[in-house]
Amino acid sequence: MPTVDLTEELLRLLRHHKAKGRQYVFLSPENLTYLQQSPRPSQTPASSDDTARKQAQTDDQAVQQQASPQQSAASSTPRKKERVSDSRVGQMDWETLISTIQSCTACPLHSVRTQTVPGAGNMNAELMFIGEAPGEEEDRQGLPFVGKAGQQLDKMIKAMQFEREEVFIGNIVKCRPPANRVPQNNETSQCLPYLERQIELIQPRIIVLLGSTPLSQLTGARSINRAHGQWYEVYGIPAVPTFHPSFLLRSPAKKKEAWEDLKQVMRYLGKDPEETMRRRQTSS
Ligand code: URA
Ligand code: SF4
Repeated sequence: MPTVDLTEELLRLLRHHKAKGRQYVFLSPENLTYLQQSPRPSQTPASSDDTARKQAQTDDQAVQQQASPQQSAASSTPRKKERVSDSRVGQMDWETLISTIQSCTACPLHSVRTQTVPGAGNMNAELMFIGEAPGEEEDRQGLPFVGKAGQQLDKMIKAMQFEREEVFIGNIVKCRPPANRVPQNNETSQCLPYLERQIELIQPRIIVLLGSTPLSQLTGARSINRAHGQWYEVYGIPAVPTFHPSFLLRSPAKKKEAWEDLKQVMRYLGKDPEETMRRRQTSS
């Protein structure tokens, strides 16, 4: 039944946020009304829903066990707050947020960075891009997407009829992981409140998720191959995943599919993709 599917989908999303250590989520008015109208789990008769709930409990237990061996050992005493406080970050203005990121030591990545990469661009952007993590060149310059992947992203931004300065570019984590490995859960869970606050301050009209790390961290979906070009919601903002620019450099055949994804975003923002084609023809 579609109603059950929707509830399960929403539950899955909330479990995902919980697993990431978030204490607060932004809910769109529609989702809030929907949740308020849904039967509470304890009122739901035993059914497939019950199975989903059991699974949810198991998932939560698994997450708790996985996330904090020391914490469960000390569960009767108040926990030392080592993690970034979501509520504190949630109150910050831009200046405080950036300086907090720049001096952050909340996860192990701080000890191997040259400098942080808080993100850059228009703080009132209608279009925001979210990548994975700084690479070598970003770590050197303190700016996002300034290496080879950045050149590819610049082409994508241009093709969408935007200038780099008009959009905002951020990342899931603000410090470079060693040898550009994928950021780990203990790193992303510490760093995500910063991104949440950035999104909240910018209030973009739409977000483009670049590759599978932002996809899985922000939506819980795993396969970028299946998810690209679909519509998600990230903290109440429409979000469309597409392939990471580095992947496009390695697999140029995928550029066509990425362009289809970006065209949807352009149309949403009232831009005409045909105009990009016309501009290309006149400039060549
Ligand atoms: N790749 C990313 O995901 N982010 C950057 O900032 C640079 C490369
Ligand atoms: Fe802090 Fe994020 Fe850097 Fe970790 S990656 S030290 S949480 S800014």
